[in-house]
Amino acid sequence: MPERISVFGTGYLGATHAAGMAELGHEVIGVDIDPAKIDLLRRGEVPFFEPGLSDVLRRHVESGRLRFTTDPQEAADFADVHFIGVGTPQKKGENAADMRYVDAVIETLGPLLTRPAVILGKSTVPVGTAARLADRLRDIAPVGDDAQLGWNPEFLREGFAVQDTLFPDRLVIGVDPQRPGRIEEAARRVYAAMLERDTPFIVTDLATSELVKVSANAFLATKISFINAIAEVCEASGGDVIALADAIGHDERIGRKFLGAGLGFGGGCLPKDIRAFMARAGELGVDQALTFLREVDNVNMRRREHAVELATRVVGGSLSGIHVAVLGAAFKPQSDDVRDSPALDVAGSLHLRGADVRVYDPEAMRNAAAIWPTLTFADSIDDACRGADLVIVATEWGEFKTMDPVVLAAAVGSTRIIDGRNCLPSQEWIDAGWDYYGMGRHSG
Ligand code: UGA
Repeated sequence: MPERISVFGTGYLGATHAAGMAELGHEVIGVDIDPAKIDLLRRGEVPFFEPGLSDVLRRHVESGRLRFTTDPQEAADFADVHFIGVGTPQKKGENAADMRYVDAVIETLGPLLTRPAVILGKSTVPVGTAARLADRLRDIAPVGDDAQLGWNPEFLREGFAVQDTLFPDRLVIGVDPQRPGRIEEAARRVYAAMLERDTPFIVTDLATSELVKVSANAFLATKISFINAIAEVCEASGGDVIALADAIGHDERIGRKFLGAGLGFGGGCLPKDIRAFMARAGELGVDQALTFLREVDNVNMRRREHAVELATRVVGGSLSGIHVAVLGAAFKPQSDDVRDSPALDVAGSLHLRGADVRVYDPEAMRNAAAIWPTLTFADSIDDACRGADLVIVATEWGEFKTMDPVVLAAAVGSTRIIDGRNCLPSQEWIDAGWDYYGMGRHSG
């Protein structure tokens, strides 16, 4: 049975969720305060790069099953289930998450709820937020107790957002056990197609559901920083972190995924989520429990510095006037997101140290230029690398992984390459005459 759904927020999370819900057969209205974004979405255009999303979006905008508005009243009148998919960025100058956008959805939607409604929060929030919002909602909604709020954290990865939305590996629904209401039932109706496929469906209290999300991201961040810490030891001792990760990854308890050593993690989630988690633990008086995350953050940030130091060393001690081609600006491939991107951070640091940096990224150039207008942006790999004294691969896009070392050798000024993501076939580059520097490898 199709449900009538609204999704507040049309960023990476909200737009994908709205399109995904339409794909599941529901009738969906997406809401955002940004009229320019809504105009694009109404035309079936996605305001950011996410593989496969524009097809799904366009299909359902055309069928009429998916529409967009800036008017919350329209959503309140139309939908029975409302999702919150707005951002919770890091506060300026603080570790804590900025809750203003999530709070604004409740403050706006609550007073418009004149008939029973279920609200499911998807945004990543500090533990305790859902209980606070549920109370507030009951106070301000004309339907009172019939405005019921649960938490349904999202685990999608950018670059795989459509796939992760339609085929999640688990569904988590947080409900206040004192007031279960109709929340679980509503979630079961919305996600019926996934439940038929036996997708694990975990119902918890509100606090646990919020903690599941931040714990998952904290664990992933820890795994990446673990291997990057080991990479530092490899660099100092002559070990090879790739062989090491392969070997420990065979242990099923450890697993090979997220043991990719390199420039470390970035993006709009992992960095700010571990910081917000530490900040919240501090408020709860258990900051010691998460002190290790400070080290996870430190190891991660050191990777960027290490890359800049390595670059300085391999060009002979000074970056002044050195032409460096930085391949990649996005925080990871299949994304145009440059939020807290290690690639862009490295490019910016090299530039500040006097290097003539030329950046090329297949998708993220516009976003990168908005943050770092003083960098030079090239149109292609060749354009970035022509005459370069050093090439740095900072994001593992497919087109970088398959570059021909022989062809590129003829274009650059000096055949030196730093593989910041350990994504190149190193032996081929060495055989083609390049000085190859990996991360956590003999040469790095
Ligand atoms: C992350 C989580 O993986 C999702 O499950 C979660 O839903 C999402 O955050 C979120 O909270 O919204 P995402 O930020 O899209 O997803 O990206 P990841 O694939 O997790 O990669 C994060 C960063 O870690 C990237 O910069 C990537 O290059 C880096 N990384 C990843 C490594 O440095 N090494 C690895 O082995 C894996």
